[in-house]
Amino acid sequence: MTRETRVMLEYADDPAQKTLEGYRENGGYQALEKALREMSPDQVTAEVETSGLRGRGGAGFPTGRKWRFVPKTDKPKYLAVNADESEPGTCKDRQIMERDPHQLIEGSLLSCYAFGAKTAYIYVRGEYPHSIKALEDAIDEARAANLLGDKILGTDFCCDVWVHPGAGAYICGEETALLTSLEGNRGYPRIRPPFPAVEGLWHCPTIVNNVETIACVTHIIKRGGEWFSKLGCEGSTGTRLFCVSGHVKRPGVYEFECGKFTLRELIEGFCGGTLSGRPLKGVMPGGSSMPVLRADELDVTFDIESVQKAGSSLGSGAIMVFDDSVGAVGAAVNIAEFYSHESCGQCTPCREGSDWVRRMLLQFAAQDARDGDLDLLMDVTDKMDGTTICALAEALVWPVQSFVRKFRSEFEAAVRESAVGTATQ
Ligand SMILES: Cc1cc2nc3c(=O)[nH]c(=O)nc-3n(C[C@H](O)[C@H](O)[C@H](O)COP(=O)(O)O)c2cc1C
Ligand code: SF4
Repeated sequence: MTRETRVMLEYADDPAQKTLEGYRENGGYQALEKALREMSPDQVTAEVETSGLRGRGGAGFPTGRKWRFVPKTDKPKYLAVNADESEPGTCKDRQIMERDPHQLIEGSLLSCYAFGAKTAYIYVRGEYPHSIKALEDAIDEARAANLLGDKILGTDFCCDVWVHPGAGAYICGEETALLTSLEGNRGYPRIRPPFPAVEGLWHCPTIVNNVETIACVTHIIKRGGEWFSKLGCEGSTGTRLFCVSGHVKRPGVYEFECGKFTLRELIEGFCGGTLSGRPLKGVMPGGSSMPVLRADELDVTFDIESVQKAGSSLGSGAIMVFDDSVGAVGAAVNIAEFYSHESCGQCTPCREGSDWVRRMLLQFAAQDARDGDLDLLMDVTDKMDGTTICALAEALVWPVQSFVRKFRSEFEAAVRESAVGTATQ
């Protein structure tokens, strides 16, 4: 049966949890005390490795392994917490920032301690004023209580956390664009390697992790990596926040252990099925940049590996549901409009290709497409895949190609209708 397991959201419904006093009453900052007094930085990293924690920002990279890439050097090291949360359908990080901000601050301090950073920046989506305010208030309280700054809790550990608002560009959620933006420049992604862990902010080692990833670190150190690894399933340990949106009776942000139920059980059972009562048509299980699954493909166990085998991804945890009132061509147009608008324009295949794709799809929608246009569309998208600096191009290509492959008859019908329209003119 699908049910929630609340770890990160355990106290989220209590308004006092936002304050330092309320957070401490529920065991807050015990993990930091424990780490600073009883654990070496290496032991903190080892605990995160034991937990099996994988990044919650989209790619699912193992967090402990990423931290191990930080070179042993005298250069300053940084943590950049990715709170840009711009992927359509994704609204989970704000639950942490607005309802339980201290767990993010505590996780940031623990992470900095683990890989030797003295500064953490939380790069928050500019359209999230409530998140920015909640974090700034929590940081002020923590600083006044010597949980931030010099000689934290009387130890030799010194660390500060700063909030940096973004300015509304989707691309600044891409980790290297985020760093360029933090440095005060236009948010252009950078070619990798070098990866940020080796050369990030101001050419210094920088770890970029998502808000939810860092929040998990707090619980891993508090309750142990072993405990975390037993939640969920192999390859998808712990709990994850999922944002269910679209045509369901019970949309919302929920916290689940992966591997315990199927996508169908989640949508038709836990979320009550479609709001309209109409048949389900499809689901994008990981945000708008991931391939769509058709209604007949939802009997897949809900974890990273199983959803990958089914041809999609859990991505950023945004589950977008639509019933059969949605046309595949229109959905593809929507996606292409968004990503072509957000392309930063550095790479030709993305800058030109995304606009080509958008305009071609608009022709399908306007029943102004010709024989061969579907092949041309697939050809253009193929040429965008894997030929660009960052993955924004794929964020357009994968869902658009999946809509064509899975609902091909609707695109073919648009071509046929176009021919009828031309003949009667
Ligand atoms: C175009 C684009 C947008 C992205 N937007 C976000 C975002 O808003 N938030 C986020 O955490 N990761 C985002 N990512 C993923 C980050 O680049 C990076 O993988 C992530 O922050 C790493 O953190 P994690 O290891 O904790 O998942 C985006 C990636 C791309 C290609
Ligand atoms: S893929 Fe697109 S968004 Fe990414 S760097 Fe190239 S042009 Fe910019």
